[in-house]
Amino acid sequence: MRMRILLYTFCLFALLSCDSSTPETENSEFPSLKEAAPFPIGVAIKSSHTSSSQRGELIGYVFDSITAEYEMKMDATYPSSNSFNWNGSDAIVNFANNKNSQVHGHALVWYQSMPSWVNSFTGTDAEFEAKVQDYIETAMQRYSGKTVSWDVINEAFEDGGTGNLRQYAFRERMGDDYIAKLFQMARAADPTALLFYNDYGMTYDSVKRQAMLDMVADFQSRGIPIDGIGLQMHLTTNTNNQQISDLITQVAATGLKVHLSEIDIRINEDGSLNSPTGARLEQQNQKLVSMVNVFRSIPLDQQFAITFWGLSDPDSWLINFWGNPEWGLLFDQNFRPKPVYCGFYAALGGTETCTAG
Ligand code: XIL
Repeated sequence: MRMRILLYTFCLFALLSCDSSTPETENSEFPSLKEAAPFPIGVAIKSSHTSSSQRGELIGYVFDSITAEYEMKMDATYPSSNSFNWNGSDAIVNFANNKNSQVHGHALVWYQSMPSWVNSFTGTDAEFEAKVQDYIETAMQRYSGKTVSWDVINEAFEDGGTGNLRQYAFRERMGDDYIAKLFQMARAADPTALLFYNDYGMTYDSVKRQAMLDMVADFQSRGIPIDGIGLQMHLTTNTNNQQISDLITQVAATGLKVHLSEIDIRINEDGSLNSPTGARLEQQNQKLVSMVNVFRSIPLDQQFAITFWGLSDPDSWLINFWGNPEWGLLFDQNFRPKPVYCGFYAALGGTETCTAG
């Protein structure tokens, strides 16, 4: 009997000690966001991340929505006019599906990710449009049932307070109503996918914001399919809270789903920091919490998802884009949660202990 108890004790100890060395247990040192949120929590990833077990464990533990950072854009998937390349996007979609994570497709059309063949296309406008239709069908049908949603078009309005549409090949070839045509093509290609318009700069550029809202109202009055609006939310600690609140409230008033689709929060806009300070990290936390509180106040069925534009600080596009050191994301360079992670967790309604670092 005594021997048996000893044996049980040994087995239990062996089990526990074995368990404590698994990444799952390591991760459970801090609580998971997806468990706390009533809507999906997303992260943008690169296909190269899918082979790292450390990242994979962490992403699977924390998030339940995946966006491709660039490998589902047109220049990546349709590099030449007669061939598609699905390597990167397949890897990301398969990874997400294996993690029981939803996939948000990003982005079918973006003026910044035009393959060169688009600009040098020598066929007629009708042939161009047919090619676009075939592209949208091919991409969306490949991932039908594996992606819940797509950004049909990204950043169609120009900056600078004009509210004008950007001028580039798609608008030149398909006319001023090209965005409506893209949404119709997307709906026909995969009726199961939710269709989003995605853009940035809608906090500070009220003319651009109004132009987007006018476009949505026009689509709704004409019966052009659109299900949601993605607000990228590349913010800084200086972004005005009232503008954030007004934006989310006005966009929700359309009745469409709202996706905070590409969050990062710069703490070094003035370039003065070489390492993050506690004070700035706390401002970053407050900025996110204030935005999440507004998001949670819109009707639940319009709270589509909240997505971060990368996993850990050094991954971020911000560093090259702005040329300053930046720490804009939820995890630090050691994949440890930052103050903004724990603040976000609590703002989602999480009640477990969360300690940064
Ligand atoms: C960026 C990626 O982060 C980069 O890796 C890529 O080289 C260029 O695109 N708005 C968007 C995103 O909608 O697609 C952009 O992503 C960042 C700005």
